[in-house]
Amino acid sequence: MRKPLIAANWKMHLNTHQASLFLHKLEQKVAAHRNVEIVLCPNYLVLQSLSLQVNHRKFKLGAQNCYWRDEGAYTGEVSATMLRGLVNYVIVGHSERRHVFLERDSDVRNKVQAVVRNGMSPILCIGETSVERAAGETFDVLHNQLTAGLANVTSDEINGIVIAYEPVWAIGTGESAHPEDAQSAAIFLRQQVTSLYGNAAAQQVRILYGGSVNAGNSNSYASQNDIDGLLVGGASLKADEFSAITEAVYALTLNNHPLTAPA
Ligand code: PGA
Repeated sequence: MRKPLIAANWKMHLNTHQASLFLHKLEQKVAAHRNVEIVLCPNYLVLQSLSLQVNHRKFKLGAQNCYWRDEGAYTGEVSATMLRGLVNYVIVGHSERRHVFLERDSDVRNKVQAVVRNGMSPILCIGETSVERAAGETFDVLHNQLTAGLANVTSDEINGIVIAYEPVWAIGTGESAHPEDAQSAAIFLRQQVTSLYGNAAAQQVRILYGGSVNAGNSNSYASQNDIDGLLVGGASLKADEFSAITEAVYALTLNNHPLTAPA
């Protein structure tokens, strides 16, 4: 059974003080459900202090990026090695990294490998732009980004990888993907994992949807068979809305898997 995962990508919001206040608020609103994993991804600077404050039974921590070399003369970078012990997850290949900071598939592949090598799970983001979508290239883009991102991942390591389908045109725009289209993309990605690693591995890998997820539409994505959770940007900065999203996903686990419900 794939455990639903909801990741909050705070992006470049909330300084140390603001993040601490916001976490305090979230802890009051968001309930701990052992069959749903909730991952908070603040900026690097805030990770250390939040890790001391956070209720680890309720939230895991993730980083939004990393550099793939372990150490060295790379001014301004933070390595996966440095994040080890502090976070469980690292977002890799987010569309803002690819498009604003011009990360290439080879960077993404190296980062995925560095995260895995350091014992954490990458959340590998994949998605087409509006131009690619209009040109009918969505599945080609997904295939290329996925195979490039997973190029160095072995069959022993694939288990720990999380894939996030995030159509670029849906991120931060309020224009979310049609849930059936997101499901088709997730099915396609799972088929790709099957052809690379076999069916058993593909059935274990979690695939998230991200792109203008909010409390009103989260259920329509999370209820799709091949979508195992959500990567939430803007709505994760509103405590009430984010907690409503987590509750909606939790409610689905109760409906679908009554035996996993907490006593
Ligand atoms: P959004 O961002 O929810 O604000 O669209 C999603 C993301 O960037 O992961």
